[in-house]
Amino acid sequence: MSFFDSANVINQQVKASILSEKNIQLFVKREDAIHSDISGNKYRKLKYNLKAAKDEGFTKIITFGGAFSNHILATAVAGNLAGLQTVGIIRGEELGENIKETLSLNPTLKNAYDGGMKFEFISRKDYREKMNSVFLEKLAKKHGAFYLLPEGGTNKLAVKGCEEILTEQDTEFDYICCCVGTGGTLAGIINSAKNHQKVLGFPALKGDFLREEISGFVENSAQWNLITDYHFGGYAKYTEELIRFINDFKRETSIPLDPIYTGKMMFGVFDMIKKNQFPESTKILAVHTGGLQGIEGFNEVLKKKKTGLKVV
Ligand SMILES: Cc1ncc(COP(=O)(O)O)c(C=O)c1O
Repeated sequence: MSFFDSANVINQQVKASILSEKNIQLFVKREDAIHSDISGNKYRKLKYNLKAAKDEGFTKIITFGGAFSNHILATAVAGNLAGLQTVGIIRGEELGENIKETLSLNPTLKNAYDGGMKFEFISRKDYREKMNSVFLEKLAKKHGAFYLLPEGGTNKLAVKGCEEILTEQDTEFDYICCCVGTGGTLAGIINSAKNHQKVLGFPALKGDFLREEISGFVENSAQWNLITDYHFGGYAKYTEELIRFINDFKRETSIPLDPIYTGKMMFGVFDMIKKNQFPESTKILAVHTGGLQGIEGFNEVLKKKKTGLKVV
């Protein structure tokens, strides 16, 4: 049995006075507990892609990401487990100037490197062109045949994997909440949601452009919507209130949240509950998509900026 054949995930009930006051039940699907590095949606997104890479006879995977990318680390570790070489094309050529120093300051890249990933650091300008045919041909010349995984890992097979997040037991929930980057995870959840359920996506970045992309992956008539009020200024942006919420939530529930994705979603869920945006007696399932490995690197940034803040 391979690692990808088994994912034992529990729904943990959250206890908080606001929930009893509003007569709402909230559960967290602890996908984050699947694995420390291949957690949450990364496990789901990689499962069928790694299988396809192996079935199609590839020995190497190439993918893309930023310096603290959950996807980069998960691909490195999962590729290693599956016996596939991995190459990460990383945004920011300056990171490649002194790789020893980069690895000493960046736990995400350090762990990916230890997992066997080879890096190529490229400029932000080249990074924007990464999916065009000229860039991909250059990669093929240098690396030979490879299985291409897009940034964030979202493609049809990733969505198929994310369709396995909800199970038959989850039909009791009225709302399913999930954070959104590219929207692949949300699309998988929508595809397996039942008609009586409403799926809410909480984008971690600014802009309403995601709706169309998500629709392209949706093959189900379940009701869904994007809640765009909780991006906190954009990707990797934060406020003191968000950090305090994440730390309070962990102290009260023992559930850790990351500041880039799941913290923003949970902040949004609680804010909507406070504002009576869920009907009484509602049962909500919030999907914890992992990303906890990013906390250490995020705290390094907070420290460098001398903010006095820390995610615990
Ligand atoms: C921890 C975590 N949660 C959620 C997401 C968003 O997933 P998606 O890109 O499928 O919307 C990501 C994306 O990288 C992530 O790392």
